[in-house]
Amino acid sequence: SNRIMLGPLVAAIDQGTSSTRFLVFNAKTAELLSHHQVEIKQSFPKEGWVEEDPKEILQSVYECMDRTCEKLTQLNIDISNIKAIGVTNQRETTLVWDKETGEPLYNAIVWLDLRTQSTVERLISKTPGRNKNHLKHKTGLPISTYFSAVKLRWLLDNVDEVAEAVVTHRAMFGTVDSWLIWCLTGGKSGGVHCTDVTNASRTMLFNIHTLDWDPELCKYFDIPMEILPKVRSSSEIYGLMTSGSLTGIPISGCLGDQSAALVGQMCFQDGQAKNTYGTGCFLLRNTGAKGSVAIAGAVVRWLKDNLGIIQTSTELEKLAASVGTSYGCYFVPAFSGLYAPYWEPSARGIICGLTQFTNRSHLAFAALEAVCFQTREILDAMNQDSGIPLTQLQVDGGMTSNRLLMQLQADILCIPVVKPSMPETTALGAAMAAGAAEGVSVWSLRPEDLSEVTSEKFEPQINPEGTRRFSKRRETSIFSSLPLGFYVVG
Ligand code: G3P
Repeated sequence: SNRIMLGPLVAAIDQGTSSTRFLVFNAKTAELLSHHQVEIKQSFPKEGWVEEDPKEILQSVYECMDRTCEKLTQLNIDISNIKAIGVTNQRETTLVWDKETGEPLYNAIVWLDLRTQSTVERLISKTPGRNKNHLKHKTGLPISTYFSAVKLRWLLDNVDEVAEAVVTHRAMFGTVDSWLIWCLTGGKSGGVHCTDVTNASRTMLFNIHTLDWDPELCKYFDIPMEILPKVRSSSEIYGLMTSGSLTGIPISGCLGDQSAALVGQMCFQDGQAKNTYGTGCFLLRNTGAKGSVAIAGAVVRWLKDNLGIIQTSTELEKLAASVGTSYGCYFVPAFSGLYAPYWEPSARGIICGLTQFTNRSHLAFAALEAVCFQTREILDAMNQDSGIPLTQLQVDGGMTSNRLLMQLQADILCIPVVKPSMPETTALGAAMAAGAAEGVSVWSLRPEDLSEVTSEKFEPQINPEGTRRFSKRRETSIFSSLPLGFYVVG
């Protein structure tokens, strides 16, 4: 036949908050050969609640896999060259299912969900000195609605099916990676129940020093340890695909999406950092420090779906660029509270500085600025913690196609922002982990080999007076110029 000979290929499942993707890379060149993407529905059953359907998530993975394989076949690429599959996923999102029926016992509670706010307040009030960082020495995390432990606690307390499955030893807990790997490796007929260290580290049940579940933490949240998946490394063969177009292929990489992007951006050196503009914004730096902003891309979806001031996300850039300033309007999209560096779940969004002159274009501009300000705050906190200011920021994620946003980000950070020409760095990181696993060993590219990869650099634009070319106001963040109580309600 006239099939193209490419050598080994490695695939990645990228299961994000808003969509699922399947991507296939050439293991010798890291070139992206084909991919497919499917949107995921989100439901908001009550104010502050965010859920997704675990079966829809699984179905979307199979659909993306099948479509991608079809596309490869159309390109005359033999899918039997796919030697390994990596999984990368939205983190913290919490699922419980029945290992005998294979059925989910409730919807997935998405990381953004705020239903556990009162539980979190109660837990914090019981710590010495009402200290939300009470468990930080073991987990690296503040007690917050964000992480899985409290979501799992809610399921155990409020869903009879979950409580019953625990008593009858049929319950399995997992983040999205665990759910997918269990289902894809056989589900109720022998699926592998595991997670990796990066995903486990976002549950608040994992000890970041021993790199395993921590009995004391489990006791603290009153979580039965037998429902937890086994913690494995991020690069090893967990099991083989048991159905679909890729039956028999090993799943050999697993990383939370933000850790995967750090790998895909080749941030292997001390001090290197990347920011991913997805549903939220996630800045990770190679020192182990990290920070999350809950709302980034989600603000675009809100302007589109809730306010209707844009029809498509690409319109936002045009609208904002048409004015080039927010004209003093500030937008704090704290829809799900504020994440790093505040960790204030009761915060809510505000739009302020409105005048008769303000129109939707200014609001669009303020929304973009809000994303940049939030990133600036995290970077400032990281610079302060590490004592070493970052000299450039590597970026990726859907919103990075917005050039105005990238320029604003460089201006607001006062350092260059560097965007790789291949934007799927999250998937690339998972593929690298899968391809490099022992027993697969098809990925031999080192970061140096990819130094030729092209990227685009946005330099901060500073005028001769040394001030930024936009308004002075932008030099400090809205968050540091407003008292926190101003947008904390309730
Ligand atoms: O912590 C949540 C994060 O992993 C979700 O990422 O890309 O779905 O916004 P994303």
